[in-house]
Amino acid sequence: MSIFVQSLYFPIKKNISMNKTHVAACLAMFMMCIKTSAQLSILPQPQKLVAVSGSFYLNNKTIIYVETEETRAAIKALTDKIKIDGTQPKVLDLNNTTTNDNVIFFLKTDDSALGTEGYRLSVTPRQINIRANTTQGMFYAVQSLLQIMPPDIFSTVPLRKKSAWKIPCVEIEDKPRYSYRGLHLDVSRHFQPISVIKKYIDLLAMYKMNTFHWHLTDDQGWRIAIKKYPKLTEIGSKRKQTLIGSLSEKPERYDGKPHGGFYTQEQIKEVVTYAQERCVTIIPEIEMPGHALAALAAYPELSCDPSKNYEVATKWGVFEDVFCPTDKTFDFLQDVLSEVMELFPAKYIHIGGDESPKEAWKQSKFCQDLIKKEGLKDEHELQSFFIKRIEKFINSKGKNIIGWDEILEGGLAPNATVMSWRGIEGGITAAKQKHNVIMTPGSHCYFDYYQGDPETEPLAIGGYTSLEKVYSYEPTPDELNSEQAKYILGAQGNVWTEYIKTADYLEYMVYPRAIALAEVMWSPKNRRDYTDFVERLLMHSKRLDYLKVDYATRAYDVKFDLKNQKNISNPETTTTTVSMGTVLKDMDIRYTTDGTTPKSTSNLYSQPVEITNTTTLKAAVFQGSKLLSKVTIQTFYINSAFGMKYSLLNAPKNTYESGEFGLTNGIRATEKSYAQWTGFNGNDMEVTLDFGVPRSFSKATINFLNRPESWIFLPDYVIISVSNDGKEWLDINRADFAHNRGDNRYIREAKLQFSEYTKPKRFLKVFAKNMGKCPKGHPGEGQAAWLFADEIIID
Ligand code: ACM
Repeated sequence: MSIFVQSLYFPIKKNISMNKTHVAACLAMFMMCIKTSAQLSILPQPQKLVAVSGSFYLNNKTIIYVETEETRAAIKALTDKIKIDGTQPKVLDLNNTTTNDNVIFFLKTDDSALGTEGYRLSVTPRQINIRANTTQGMFYAVQSLLQIMPPDIFSTVPLRKKSAWKIPCVEIEDKPRYSYRGLHLDVSRHFQPISVIKKYIDLLAMYKMNTFHWHLTDDQGWRIAIKKYPKLTEIGSKRKQTLIGSLSEKPERYDGKPHGGFYTQEQIKEVVTYAQERCVTIIPEIEMPGHALAALAAYPELSCDPSKNYEVATKWGVFEDVFCPTDKTFDFLQDVLSEVMELFPAKYIHIGGDESPKEAWKQSKFCQDLIKKEGLKDEHELQSFFIKRIEKFINSKGKNIIGWDEILEGGLAPNATVMSWRGIEGGITAAKQKHNVIMTPGSHCYFDYYQGDPETEPLAIGGYTSLEKVYSYEPTPDELNSEQAKYILGAQGNVWTEYIKTADYLEYMVYPRAIALAEVMWSPKNRRDYTDFVERLLMHSKRLDYLKVDYATRAYDVKFDLKNQKNISNPETTTTTVSMGTVLKDMDIRYTTDGTTPKSTSNLYSQPVEITNTTTLKAAVFQGSKLLSKVTIQTFYINSAFGMKYSLLNAPKNTYESGEFGLTNGIRATEKSYAQWTGFNGNDMEVTLDFGVPRSFSKATINFLNRPESWIFLPDYVIISVSNDGKEWLDINRADFAHNRGDNRYIREAKLQFSEYTKPKRFLKVFAKNMGKCPKGHPGEGQAAWLFADEIIID
């Protein structure tokens, strides 16, 4: 930790000065006690923080002194939270200062070290001093101050006991690493009322994020009232029903209930003001040319085929129905954007640009003629033409566009900022072309992905983005030199609401992952430490409880580590143990092996647990009697093949984290996750196990995955054979799957019995025939099919 020394009391204006002895005493105290930042648990981690001994006691006599009217917005963030014996502290003009005891000073400075969002916060026994160049800086100082106050400050029932209003002394100098720190919300897939939006903004501001990207239009609903086009909300904001199962589930399952909602322009203005008071800029997104189905349902004449019947989409996905680049469409979009720009003071307007299929444009004579007339190469250049025309209009109003990274295809509009979402490559390309970039790759920044074991999580779109993975994100790619890196303005978390319907589930998916990203975006790289972050998060969680945030705790879950080791005294034998760990320090792990849910009185984990046969372990983290995590459940399949090396005729293309022993590591892969599977792309699986000496078998069991939407298919058939020399093989049994795989995602177990007459054999082989190529009619038709297998269990 770097030590940051500055005067604890800075001279304040007018007639108040300090006496020297006091300064010396305070400095001595300051040097005496330097605590770790974890005890102060500020999220995101400040740039420089030094804890000092002593405390400031906030009471009903504390006075807040303010230098300028302009800073009052930041002060409101503080006074709104402080009610002592039912009253808020007095806020007075700094010119009327009569005391320097029990006071909070808000002072405007001109300090180049702090930039536009930085601040200094000094808490001493007599004063709290907040200094910043801007209201934003002061607002962020207040956020830090609130986080070191007792957690009850966030309660709606104020504390009365004076002792509870103790604030530890501290010296903080802080400013953000990136200027753009965003959180996005898709309100099209699921509409959220204004109250939820306001809480969303409250929370993102609390973690010093400064941008709310409001995704207002998409195939599944148009959510902003546009005066000139009332049908956008009359028709486009409503859908018949919503998909509730996985998209791969056939037949698809729907809730049968209409869903809808939109924001009036008055509500939008209210939210914009609300956000401004929290130093948050709202960037609205109006999607084009794709994700336009809700608009086309209202105004089919904006499509390339107005005779078609367009309906607001009832499931998520990518749809071929897109805006047609006619003058009518441009007039429409310019009218819409004009109303939008009136409502949102942000300098950026997001125009989407992602996932816009070109099929309708390929079929359209108008589009083909336009391509010729404009001398364009193809439909990608037509998309670029589309975006450039819109950009020109937006630029003419003094604003700039942001688009998803597809806007790079066919040529980037001259002043566009790129949001890199399909990975980091779009961001790298754009930065090299001297365009501003916001990094938001799906791998680390998509909070609609799973954050824990999908088997025990509510339905999500897929993927796996743990808290740790989010925290590990580095927004500035190594590929950029320091000049190019300047174009990386920051990062953003994206929250697509395919399955996120309720406010509770929304919070569960976003928190604490958004806090991890907030720290990535705010804190210096060298101040980031995941273990320390999690410690601070745990300490902070009481505040989230008071705020009634339904955050996830999956990051605390127990992790199992299975080891199968040869015994030193007798190398013929092995011992299998499972060790357990959690990222939280000094907490109890409790576990069971009898199938029951662990309680605070279950076995306390102290050393690796030995297992001798197939066992289901359930474990959770406790602090005393309080459960801190979800229950981790894992069955370890101990069988004759467990821990054995094997040879493969064809190399797997991917072992999906299961590694060298993927097929015999005792852990079975699951349907919803790619982890543990061994995948063969286009070729067959042939696994040979050598037991060293002849032995008898009763059955072999092996699982295969069918997941056609991911190009993964059950094998045509599976054959098990045995041999004594590894050359001459005897087929024992066979299972056939080719006739009826179906479209659904599921696991099929091949259970192959041995005949009672099978003589003991040394070698065993499992052969699974890959279907070869994706079948006719499949999106991957003619391309290599995947075969996914896991866990060969031999009894
Ligand atoms: C996106 O996720 N389609 C930008």
